[in-house]
Amino acid sequence: VVDIRKLYAQTGAFTYDPGFTSTASCRSELTYIDGDEGVLLHRGYPIGELAENSSFMEVAYLLLNGELPNQGELSEFTTTITRHTMVHEQLAAFFRGFRRDAHPMAIMCGVVGALSAFYHDSTDIHDPVQRTIASHRLIAKIPTIAAMAYKYSVGQPFLYPDNSLSYTGNFLRMTFGVPAEPYEVNPAVEKAMDRIFILHADHEQNASTSTVRLAGSSGANPFACIAAGIACLWGPAHGGANEAALNMLREIGTPERIPEFIARAKDKNDPFRLMGFGHRVYKNYDPRATVMQKTVREVFDALKVNDPLFETALRLEEIALNDEYFVEKKLFPNVDFYSGVILSAIGFPTEMFTVLFALARTVGWVAQWNEMITDPDQKIGRPRQLYTGPTQRSYVPVEQR
Ligand code: ACO
Repeated sequence: VVDIRKLYAQTGAFTYDPGFTSTASCRSELTYIDGDEGVLLHRGYPIGELAENSSFMEVAYLLLNGELPNQGELSEFTTTITRHTMVHEQLAAFFRGFRRDAHPMAIMCGVVGALSAFYHDSTDIHDPVQRTIASHRLIAKIPTIAAMAYKYSVGQPFLYPDNSLSYTGNFLRMTFGVPAEPYEVNPAVEKAMDRIFILHADHEQNASTSTVRLAGSSGANPFACIAAGIACLWGPAHGGANEAALNMLREIGTPERIPEFIARAKDKNDPFRLMGFGHRVYKNYDPRATVMQKTVREVFDALKVNDPLFETALRLEEIALNDEYFVEKKLFPNVDFYSGVILSAIGFPTEMFTVLFALARTVGWVAQWNEMITDPDQKIGRPRQLYTGPTQRSYVPVEQR
């Protein structure tokens, strides 16, 4: 690792690295990825073990505080988060300004950005108490806002949080429950959903997390920074890939059509890519995809459903992993490849997929933002550029051009 800042101070030389493929923008203790080996650790714990044994609240605590909580710490943390799940009543009025057919991610960008207007008593980034309150507010309110975005898009009334339920159970009820009708949270779905949240909680310096850090590096308040992260996550090359992956599987339909799409993905004249395949860092199987694939079967068993698209996805993976193009370029399924099949089985429309990703990733963004704010090395993020425009020239009045 070269500390390029020293080289720059001595020689004025700097690097050209579009896409930051080989530039570390920060130091971090949160998440470790070994892309060649397919390893993902949060604070040292393998993602597979966390997904199998812990809960999303535990992982949130771990990412924020550095250690797994004991029972007392977990109860206290869960109670704190639970107490913050309500949103200001005026926020409901804010929702009503959106077109009813607005994409829920468009609503998320707007509403989360607006939180700084509703909760400006926790926007002083220099006050550790306010930082903690803002962090808890974001983690607690994001499921409520996500569920409201869903309810708004289907024209149903909003449901208030029921704080007797778990973080994930509460979200499922606010999303799928109907006022005045009892809603039973299906424990298997709740567990699967909680696991999906764990799988998406953090992933070191991906595009949206880097966006959160870059926005935060100027001193912007955390609500504004997380809104910036949500905007970045929306893109189909990032969080939008889960929506795109399911749409692709639907377009492929049956396994017989797979070769046609594989051929398109390999054709350099066709912009089509296999969505849910490939990753900037993983040059091996994404360990989150392994858990996700297993979770598909669990959800299908619990709901007694069987979506033939899962068979198409499995077959597509098999064909791609035996194809020279994908082998050579080390393109494997990523976390988004199977998530759409599960989310669809649970009942989420595809427009909600990226919203769910944003919900879970808020924990990582908040933890990363806190780490950045307290890092003495942190400076305002300000990349350099290679200027390729004209050299200096004189202004020509419009009538002489
Ligand atoms: N299908 C077909 N070819 C692919 C794919 C794909 N899914 N992904 C990469 N390639 C090819 C590229 O065409 C390129 O080929 P070339 O070297 O001949 O030009 C090569 O593999 C490297 O691809 P890059 O785009 O340079 O790799 P990068 O690291 O910039 O991109 C990315 C990674 C964006 C994830 C890419 O693999 C992709 O677009 N995948 C599909 C979208 C997707 O699933 N995104 C989700 C990522 S995970 C997440 O955000 C949670």
